[in-house]
Amino acid sequence: MQSPSPLLTLGVNIDHVATIRQARRTVEPDPVTAAALAELGGANGITVHLREDRRHIQDRDVQILRQTVQTHLNLEMAPTDEMVAIALDIKPDYVTLVPEKREEITTEGGIDIVGNFERFKGVVDELQGADIPVSWFIDAEPEQIEASQKTGAKFIELHTGKYAEAPSEVAQQVELDYLRRGAQQAIAQGLRVNAGHGLTYRNVFPVACIEGMEELNIGHTIISRAVLVGLERAVREMKLAMGGQL
Ligand code: PXP
Repeated sequence: MQSPSPLLTLGVNIDHVATIRQARRTVEPDPVTAAALAELGGANGITVHLREDRRHIQDRDVQILRQTVQTHLNLEMAPTDEMVAIALDIKPDYVTLVPEKREEITTEGGIDIVGNFERFKGVVDELQGADIPVSWFIDAEPEQIEASQKTGAKFIELHTGKYAEAPSEVAQQVELDYLRRGAQQAIAQGLRVNAGHGLTYRNVFPVACIEGMEELNIGHTIISRAVLVGLERAVREMKLAMGGQL
């Protein structure tokens, strides 16, 4: 069996730390603190998605993270005028362009570059003209990969959602082959390849082994585990704060 490249990196998506904070519109937990702890744990990069509806990450978070992140900051955003202006102002280390629908629970599919080519190429020109490398979040479809390359973007991020949600082992293998072929095509066309969405502790390894894979962006499963592995200690500490006994 193939093994992951020793250069493979992990971008930790901290959106859902902000989701918990926004549930109460309070100040905790602060995604800025979470980013620092993720870096202490070995994160190679920090990813945040500034959504149009600001349901989790806020403008203030991105501004502070730009100053505090010691690794690299990947700003996920829709290719809109508002977001491009924010990126040009904040200058993240790279931008991942994603589709966005207001009603969706999370990013549901890859972006359609083929159908929006002229507009999207303009977005890449503007961002990369300001030295902000661009990554397109796409399904591993040959025509989307080709269109990504034609926009001049440096990276693609392959959408692993269908792989993650495959209903059987056979279906998962089909999706994995699809991702492998997509990575191969992208690299042959001079693109750098990342992947993410829906990856978990159980399904990550085969994706990590895809040849040429550079970075995996993973969020929900890490934050979910953090809530559970930290809960016992958090309860103990509350008992102590109450002056109580265990
Ligand atoms: N990559 C992209 C482009 C995403 O939109 C997301 C979800 O915000 C992720 C990676 C991380 O997905 P998950 O939270 O399922 O790990």
